[in-house]
Amino acid sequence: MLNHRAIALSIVPLLLAAAAAAQNAAAVVAPAAAASPYAGSQACQTCHEDLYNGVMKSPHAAVETDHRRGFAGKACESCHGPGAKHAESASAADIRVPSKLAAAAADRICLSCHLNEETRSGRLQSSHAKNQVPCTSCHQIHAAGPLGLLPHGQAAVNAQCERCHVNVVAQFQQPNHHRVPENAMSCVDCHNPHGSLRPAMGRAFAGNEPGCLNCHGDKRGPFAFEHAPVRFEGCQTCHEPHGSSNPRMLTRAQVRFVCLECHANLPAMNSRPVAGVVPPAFHDLRSPVYQNCTVCHQKIHGSHVDRNLLK
Ligand code: HEC
Ligand code: HEC
Ligand code: HEC
Ligand code: HEC
Ligand code: HEC
Ligand code: HEC
Ligand code: HEC
Ligand code: HEC
Ligand code: HEC
Ligand code: HEC
Repeated sequence: MLNHRAIALSIVPLLLAAAAAAQNAAAVVAPAAAASPYAGSQACQTCHEDLYNGVMKSPHAAVETDHRRGFAGKACESCHGPGAKHAESASAADIRVPSKLAAAAADRICLSCHLNEETRSGRLQSSHAKNQVPCTSCHQIHAAGPLGLLPHGQAAVNAQCERCHVNVVAQFQQPNHHRVPENAMSCVDCHNPHGSLRPAMGRAFAGNEPGCLNCHGDKRGPFAFEHAPVRFEGCQTCHEPHGSSNPRMLTRAQVRFVCLECHANLPAMNSRPVAGVVPPAFHDLRSPVYQNCTVCHQKIHGSHVDRNLLK
């Protein structure tokens, strides 16, 4: 609103300069100063009945009735700006439509009320904001139904994200995947589309830990013997979060290839101090017995009792 007024004010001197005769300038400025620039929602209703009904049935009806936000009786103009001139002229040129503004300018209108709400923290850092994906690409103000103002339910949220993230849809087609295509889960279980302090707009658990722990709490510990990468590098070091053709959504086809990326030079038993994977070293990778690491190292996410994650 401030911006709009600032623009209106900055136009005044231009008008004055343009108008050669002083009485012309007075004729332009004086009536505008006297009448309110707002028409009120009732005025909009006379010509935009269906849109009026839509908004008044949506949560934004609160703007119309609640005096605290300063737009009681003129909710339409909280987003569209002062509309008295347009209500008279019925010309598109006299009214603001967020969809015709640059993404950042459109977002600023919404954030004039929705700033500092819990889910919007980090919004300014989000990839969506940086890539000109405005609020209105996901929130349709005037539409009803599951894809209207707020997507309701997992299917509606997923459908919305999938419109743009086609490559991610493909990742979920892999045989082992989180059940997003089945709509048993949704993208916002793991991501905050408004931004977050974690990488890839990931949801957090208990402040700053991976959001995975919201559902996989048994992997959190605290363990007496931690497996370092679980805490320090995150779950996606070993798992594909969306989907994978590998069992357990691992990043590699077999467990041992995941391990050997970091443990290429396996140490030996204490009694036979030879490093490596070939005898006399203890871990003989030629033998099938030693290929399936997690048969022995069962507590791969951390152990309460065993330093070597064996139990
Ligand atoms: C006298 C009838 C009338 C009233 C009253 C009226 N409008 Fe309109 N409005 C129109 C017409 C006609 C159009 C289509 C203009 C065009 O497409 O050229 C329109 C278009 C619009 C648009 C779209 C502009 C665009 O660029 O596509 C918005 C937004 C709008 N009106 C909002 C409002 C709001 C908010 C109010 C109340 C403050 C309001 N209107 C009051 C007749 C009216
Ligand atoms: C919360 C913000 C907001 C409020 C409140 C709001 N609008 Fe809109 N309006 C928009 C946005 C954003 C668009 C652009 C279309 C879109 O992205 O959904 C729009 C588009 C329009 C259009 C253009 C036609 C169209 O559907 O694209 C008209 C007309 C309009 N609004 C009228 C109204 C009227 C009348 C009211 C009050 C009853 C109102 N609006 C209240 C945000 C709002
Ligand atoms: C004048 C203040 C104001 C403006 C501007 C505004 N909103 Fe709202 N919005 C509200 C209020 C009030 C509610 C009712 C729920 C609440 O109290 O938070 C609401 C509700 C919503 C909801 C539904 C929340 C729910 O839990 O059901 C969404 C989504 C939303 N707004 C998005 C937007 C978008 C997108 C824009 C910009 C086009 C916008 N709003 C502009 C005040 C505003
Ligand atoms: C990429 C899509 C997307 C964008 C961009 C987006 N939102 Fe949302 N928004 C959602 C989804 C999906 C939900 C529902 C979240 C849920 O169910 O947990 C939501 C929920 C909300 C809610 C409801 C309350 C809440 O916190 O869950 C409000 C209010 C809201 N968004 C406002 C905004 C505003 C303001 C902007 C722009 C600054 C914006 N959104 C940008 C997708 C988006
Ligand atoms: C209108 C198109 C559009 C919609 C709808 C959309 N996105 Fe995006 N999203 C983008 C663009 C553009 C980027 C930035 C380029 C990229 O990383 O692909 C992006 C980036 C992302 C990123 C990467 C963040 C990063 O920092 O690497 C995530 C995660 C994401 N979106 C999740 C979602 C979710 C969840 C939804 C549904 C609630 C959603 N998106 C809906 C367009 C969209
Ligand atoms: C089980 C949790 C989870 C679910 C569900 C999920 N994501 Fe992700 N997503 C992640 C994690 C974790 C990353 C970061 C991966 C990394 O850092 O390598 C990510 C990365 C991304 C990225 C950026 C990297 C890329 O692959 O392009 C986008 C975009 C994205 N997700 C979109 C989506 C969309 C859209 C959905 C729903 C269809 C979705 N995600 C569902 C956890 C999830
Ligand atoms: C909203 C809850 C939820 C979140 C958040 C979540 N998961 Fe899951 N995860 C599940 C469910 C439910 C299953 C079982 C799926 C099935 O049976 O098909 C699962 C399965 C898995 C599996 C495969 C287990 C198997 O037996 O094949 C792995 C690995 C996994 N999740 C890792 C992660 C990672 C990594 C993250 C964070 C990026 C994450 N999950 C976030 C609910 C969640
Ligand atoms: C060092 C690599 C590694 C890291 C990091 C890792 N995992 Fe795993 N995870 C594995 C391996 C290997 C398996 C398969 C074990 C098997 O097949 O015996 C597995 C299995 C799973 C399973 C399915 C079996 C079970 O135990 O429930 C889930 C769920 C899972 N991991 C979640 C997570 C989550 C959540 C994180 C992050 C907190 C994480 N993982 C971090 C290697 C890892
Ligand atoms: C991203 C790298 C990484 C991956 C992948 C990885 N580890 Fe580790 N692992 C480590 C680090 C770092 C330590 C801690 C070493 C230390 O404390 O000296 C460790 C410690 C261990 C330990 C405890 C021994 C000790 O010295 O504390 C065992 C056992 C182990 N890893 C087995 C595995 C197995 C089995 C896999 C495959 C499922 C695996 N690791 C995958 C990095 C990795
Ligand atoms: C047959 C059971 C078994 C299999 C299979 C196995 N290990 Fe081990 N591993 C052990 C035992 C027992 C120890 C403890 C040795 C000791 O006390 O010095 C150990 C120790 C380790 C250590 C820690 C050594 C140290 O510094 O204390 C790492 C790392 C390790 N194994 C990785 C792996 C990897 C990677 C694989 C798969 C390629 C694997 N193991 C397969 C039984 C096994």
